Amino acid sequence: MMALLKVEDIHTYYGDSYVLQGVSLEVKRGEVVALLGRNGAGKTTTLRTIMGIIKPRRGKILFKGVDITPMPAFKVARMGIGYVPQGRRLFPEMTVLENLKTGMRKKGNGDKLDEIFDLFPALKDRLSQKASTLSGGEQQALSIARALLTEPEILLLDEPTTGLMPLLVSRLREVIEKLHEDGMAILLVEEKVPFALSVAERLYFMVKGKIAYEGSRRDLEDKRDVFIRYLGVKN
Ligand SMILES: Nc1ncnc2c1ncn2[C@@H]1O[C@H](COP(=O)(O)OP(=O)(O)O)[C@@H](O)[C@H]1O
Ligand SMILES: [Mg+2]
Repeated sequence: MMALLKVEDIHTYYGDSYVLQGVSLEVKRGEVVALLGRNGAGKTTTLRTIMGIIKPRRGKILFKGVDITPMPAFKVARMGIGYVPQGRRLFPEMTVLENLKTGMRKKGNGDKLDEIFDLFPALKDRLSQKASTLSGGEQQALSIARALLTEPEILLLDEPTTGLMPLLVSRLREVIEKLHEDGMAILLVEEKVPFALSVAERLYFMVKGKIAYEGSRRDLEDKRDVFIRYLGVKN
């Protein structure tokens, strides 16, 4: 079957700085895939390139077989790719509801909003509160909720566990599992290897702008050496 999202040999620069040096990866319909790598490896740049925020100099990005590489970011989002950027990027002075509305395609998707409140009950009681007054976990929930309101077929999550207490990390795992059960594809950028292994079926490791390893969760079960080699961590 055709991949839902296919990244083909993308080369992305910031000015003269050659950051993505030929990245290829794919996510199938309904699949949860993790992209791991040390700080500075190019994970965020990969997501930004997929979203059309930065254009690659070479290579292309196919979504449902359509070449989305030339599209501006708002069009990529409309095609069905939801993006939760690193650091959440909310509108801090706007209320929770106003932040959610920026993710709504049209006024009439109240049903979708109810689904979101099932997923994140805490947001429902805070609709008129300013985003800046939410806790870290609530801000992360709001950021994911806003992306879900665009009704994406795939969700790109950039380090969603950063700064979350362990209890909220488990809550986020449940949210990802629920979305997965409902058939949503997810590309998760993570620094917490155990978290990535607990939710993703397949994992990619990035080193210095390239994909250095790809494997299924099962492939990685007894490969501590892979984690140590590519991430420099002992998990
Ligand atoms: N806006 C930018 N301008 C110039 N260089 C950048 C910019 N953003 C990131 N970089 C550089 O690109 C490389 C990859 O960064 P990034 O994609 O953020 O990595 P990661 O998300 O894996 O930590 C790093 O060397 C970083 O310093
Ligand atoms: Mg990053």
